[in-house]
Amino acid sequence: MNKDFLPLNGTDYVELYVGNAKQSALFYQYAFGFELIAYAGPETGVRDRASYVLKQDKIRLVLTSPLGPIHPIAQHIQRHGDGVKVLALWVDDAEKSWMETTSRGAESASAPEVIKDQFGEVKVASIFTYGETIHTFVERKNYKGVFLPGYRPRKSTYQPTGIGLKYIDHCVGNVELGQMNRWVEFYEHVMGFKLLLTFDDKDISTEYSALMSKVVSNGNGYIKFPINEPAAGKKKSQIEEYLEFYGGPGVQHMAIATDDICHTVSELRRRGVEFLEVPSSYYDDLLDRVGKIDEDLQPLKDLNILVDRDDEGYLLQIFTKPVQDRPTLFFEIIQRKGAKSFGKGNFKALFEAIEREQELRGNL
Ligand code: FE2
Repeated sequence: MNKDFLPLNGTDYVELYVGNAKQSALFYQYAFGFELIAYAGPETGVRDRASYVLKQDKIRLVLTSPLGPIHPIAQHIQRHGDGVKVLALWVDDAEKSWMETTSRGAESASAPEVIKDQFGEVKVASIFTYGETIHTFVERKNYKGVFLPGYRPRKSTYQPTGIGLKYIDHCVGNVELGQMNRWVEFYEHVMGFKLLLTFDDKDISTEYSALMSKVVSNGNGYIKFPINEPAAGKKKSQIEEYLEFYGGPGVQHMAIATDDICHTVSELRRRGVEFLEVPSSYYDDLLDRVGKIDEDLQPLKDLNILVDRDDEGYLLQIFTKPVQDRPTLFFEIIQRKGAKSFGKGNFKALFEAIEREQELRGNL
């Protein structure tokens, strides 16, 4: 087997550009149980932006807002609304990661640089992926600070209890019609990922619309990036709705893993997070579709949690509604019980649920 030219230790952080980072930070603390750990902004010598770093187990979210209108981040938000800008990848050698990917055709977003403070140094370098989204390679083996050089530790007087969110399972990108294979090839050739799974429009179609999806995964399987594109249907695909409101390709959803999905989802619901609903008929023949599961059916039904199976086991999952007014980014909560991949069974139920929401928005 060929040596992995881009070894990745995992997701380092996900940065969202948002209209009001101060308020978004409280939303993710309060509703999702993240803890505020670090901050950069005017008080730390950063003049043009404010960034809040939130953590829960292995997940780090960075929420950034610009402080004025004439700023690339302001333009990003004007075009896309709140959304994911950076999917940062934790590596042992940022410069080599940048060299290996740019030499294979990746467009550089920023050349390798060393950033330092009294806690050590971090090497970072970035490349573009779909749309205006970037991957930043983060090499932090010589750093002992709270996040990155320039950030200061910061705590909130609100001390949330975690709700069992553990790590980012996968991040999904929506791209334009005809562009899915281009981006799958990008991940294969430029980043050394492998194609894990293909869903065609027969797998994922409802009465009205359809989409196609391919899942790529890196060598150790820690990073999974499904890529969706719209497919022809009677009405507008939900992927088209996303592309229209995001103003191009971007991250559609982030899936976060838990070991106890009933607890996690109960807490999210109690704190006001809204989820897509499937009809109760979804549960009528669920066990015939997925076989025996450890969980009682009733709590899953009460919480509207979906169950699916691949050839190694099963998984439990649920999807939030979009977390901003534009129908763009949403979250998935996932608990894997043996399944390392994805099932095909939930797509139809999920997409019908999304279409009901799309119809309410007048976009179907
Ligand atoms: Fe997902």
